[in-house]
Amino acid sequence: MRVGLDGIGVSFPKAFIDLGLLAEARGVPPGKYREGIGVRRMAVAAPDEDTVTLAAQAGREALRLSGTSPEEVGLLVVGTETGVDHSKPVASFVQGLLGLGTRCRVFETKHACYGGTAALQMALDGVRAGRMPGRKALVICSDIARYGLGTAGEPTQGAGAVALLVSENPRILNVEPHSGLHATDVHDFWRPLYSKDALVDGHYSVQCYLDALTGAYRHYKELCGEPGAPGFSDRFAALAYHVPYGKMARKAHRQLRTLDGDAQPDASFERLVAPSLRFSEEIGNIYTGSMYLALTSLLAHAEASLEGQRVGLFSYGSGCCAEFFAGRVVPGALARVNALQVAQRLEQREALDVPAYESIMRAREGLDERPVQSVAPDAFRFRGVEAHRRTYVAPPT
Ligand code: HMG
Repeated sequence: MRVGLDGIGVSFPKAFIDLGLLAEARGVPPGKYREGIGVRRMAVAAPDEDTVTLAAQAGREALRLSGTSPEEVGLLVVGTETGVDHSKPVASFVQGLLGLGTRCRVFETKHACYGGTAALQMALDGVRAGRMPGRKALVICSDIARYGLGTAGEPTQGAGAVALLVSENPRILNVEPHSGLHATDVHDFWRPLYSKDALVDGHYSVQCYLDALTGAYRHYKELCGEPGAPGFSDRFAALAYHVPYGKMARKAHRQLRTLDGDAQPDASFERLVAPSLRFSEEIGNIYTGSMYLALTSLLAHAEASLEGQRVGLFSYGSGCCAEFFAGRVVPGALARVNALQVAQRLEQREALDVPAYESIMRAREGLDERPVQSVAPDAFRFRGVEAHRRTYVAPPT
């Protein structure tokens, strides 16, 4: 049975900050952010945008562009590490905003940036097992990445969501059943219950990511029956890694090719990986959706069409759990990805200066307790908290 991604939706905030401006304000040489970390711009969520609105926007787009009606969705899972309530899942808000039917399994998953992949793999297994005959699963990865003003992690923030529609006979990516896994209990990145900002042991987190890649890739090769095969990754026409920032994907690829015995592990980066970074260079880290944004960028920007080709995928979530898996791009996928018009929408965003960015970041502190003033119903918007309940407005359909 062929099972995989039948539709994709991508959403991101209406504003961004240029990291050249941020570098100047922080007294950092601009080369450090641009070349050293590999970031260019960063999405900034406004007070009326949150994990729910980003998820709903991406979900609606995935349904609309794939011609799927809300009644066809039998499973809705939102993978997020920046949920809006200790009990009520983001997925329930999204179910309401998208008008999904009541005969639907609805919940949220969490494991740092891996939470979306955990949900996706469960949805794929559910469809393979025939648990949703004639129906589809909607998996949405949605997050706002926040480390706080003036921290080392500040240039690696971002916000956005990617919605993935999972079905039989998918029209974008056939996902293969093998998964190489790696999990260990580490404190590389976390967010205590009392904090809105993530805490991170930055350099250690890079090492944890690379160790997890090594473990998951070795496991994957074993499952394919070729643990020692040199040049194994040549079987992929391209690769999408989890992208907390561009340089991390470069380090990951170097590691993977070194494991393959490649004496020039950087030589294939431009061809196999660079096209996957175009959107994240504009948006930043979106945590759970990051690798799926990379996949979308890869499909849209690869020099030679990837239709009919295999792509390798590496998902990492701090804490940590990681998974290496692969899929084959379905002919016709490029037109579906181009219909998202991500590049065009990125150009329509509002550019913030540093004081405006800082004031938005500070304003988020009290947001969970009061109404939000400006509401522009051109998209799903957060209207604030009334009687301890979060309220939202939906745009016209
Ligand atoms: P830092 O200490 O500010 O930066 O933190 P640095 O001193 O390590 O410099 C970074 C790079 O810039 C270095 O290159 C420098 O040489 C270079 P590298 O050695 O890495 O190749 N550099 C320059 N290049 C050009 N011109 C210059 C210049 N100066 C220096 N003038 C760090 C950087 C990424 C650690 C920090 O931003 C951070 O802590 N970020 C957040 C953590 C993170 O993203 N970790 C990634 C792995 S964990 C992960 O991916 C999971 C995650 O998504 C969360 C989840 O799972 O939920 C984060």
